[in-house]
Amino acid sequence: SASNESDLRSPICCILGHVDTGKTKLLDKVRQTNVQGGEAGGITQQIGATYFPVDSIKQKTAVMAQHEKQTFDVPGLLIIDTPGHESFTNLRSRGSSLCNIAILVIDIMHGLEQQTLESIRLLRDRKAPFIVALNKIDRLYDWKEIPNNSFRDSYSKQTKSVQAEFQNRYEQIKVALAEQGLNSELYFQNKNMSKYVSIVPTSAVTGEGVPDLLWLLLELTQKRMSKQLMYLSKVEATILEVKVVEGFGYTIDVVLSNGILREGDRVVLCGLNGPICTNIRALLTPPPSRELRIKSEYVHNKEVKAALGVKIAANDLEKAVAGSRLVVVGEDDDEEEIMEEVMDDLTGLLDSVDTSGKGVVVQASTLGSLEALLDFLKDMKIPVMSIGLGPVYKRDIMKASTMLEKAPEYAVMLCFDVKVDKEAEQYAAEQNIKIFNADIIYHLFDQFTAYQQKLLE
Ligand code: GTP
Ligand code: MG
Ligand code: NA
Repeated sequence: SASNESDLRSPICCILGHVDTGKTKLLDKVRQTNVQGGEAGGITQQIGATYFPVDSIKQKTAVMAQHEKQTFDVPGLLIIDTPGHESFTNLRSRGSSLCNIAILVIDIMHGLEQQTLESIRLLRDRKAPFIVALNKIDRLYDWKEIPNNSFRDSYSKQTKSVQAEFQNRYEQIKVALAEQGLNSELYFQNKNMSKYVSIVPTSAVTGEGVPDLLWLLLELTQKRMSKQLMYLSKVEATILEVKVVEGFGYTIDVVLSNGILREGDRVVLCGLNGPICTNIRALLTPPPSRELRIKSEYVHNKEVKAALGVKIAANDLEKAVAGSRLVVVGEDDDEEEIMEEVMDDLTGLLDSVDTSGKGVVVQASTLGSLEALLDFLKDMKIPVMSIGLGPVYKRDIMKASTMLEKAPEYAVMLCFDVKVDKEAEQYAAEQNIKIFNADIIYHLFDQFTAYQQKLLE
């Protein structure tokens, strides 16, 4: 098809790295928001998406003009935040599968950690190009900050001892990366971007190096993404979350990674009780540079172009499964066929349900967290009798109560990040069904492991 400039799509960049290296905080710095401060336990447990229009990137990279040439061909950049906690391998994997380029965040004070290594493996498997943000440079002893400055300029103004500490830590991390088979170089000394990984020193607190990071992202996506990837084609969309929004009822948050969505489009998605076919009633986007997860005034759109995060309002979304795909039914498409196709994600998970009918009941907020819970239980060799998504009702407890006679040790409900209905809670108390509910996934694992150990004593 004939391509022109208005067909250009925005690249998708995914942020990966070990827990607490500053992934969310870096994004907060670019957005001038505080998402990180509002997270339970300060940890990210979902994928978040933020769209940056190219104009806002221009502003934020202005200080780079003294060092580098700049080009702004793409309409913007979609950045996807992922959790660093070990329980969320699946979300990191999903995030990395959506992206054209990635930022691997490494804490300069800690070097390579467990999920750094895992992220490197993921990116390798996907052959995704990536750069390293060497974050928290403000923690180098006696660092003098110049807010939102380019790294090179800030660095040149540090004392000899700060520069020596930086060099020392940087060299160690370079060696550690080499041990992983990665040659790396400070990005402005990197003469061969396709062979050497570029390192950008940053601070999410002072904003230093953030202009460098944005500049490099644009530079690499514009120069190194294949032309074909740069143009809009068939719709590819993933559901991140299902949420009730005042005035709209049930809505879904979606990452549109390719193609165009229009108001009125017929779409098919994976539902808890079977496929859902519905029509898009409203396409809502947060104001530019705001995160989709955060409540704000929405902009209504007649159509939206990839890549971006968009909230969709439509009928029958209540049972939509977060983490699954959304497919647009075209004129020549067979709706029945698509209905089967979209259910594959969930059918895969049902395989982990024990056929003997013995096991615990598991309930989670998203397909991703449900997968994480099921992986954990598999490692623990604990069978699962039933799985569900969304709030817990009395009927879910009733399922668990069938274990009281068959296998009392499994008469429990493991719930992650879901509401437990009052009546359900009461019924569970009467029946002596233990409900474990946590909004931090490893707390849930810890609680349950402790309970299992107590039973064994
Ligand atoms: P997860 O999503 O849970 O994996 O963590 P994350 O990588 O998103 O890290 P987050 O943004 O939650 O930051 C973790 C902690 O490090 C917070 O207390 C931040 O304030 C702090 N932090 C992040 N970046 C910097 C930085 O550049 N300098 C300093 N001094 N602290 C930072
Ligand atoms: Mg985070
Ligand atoms: Na964190």
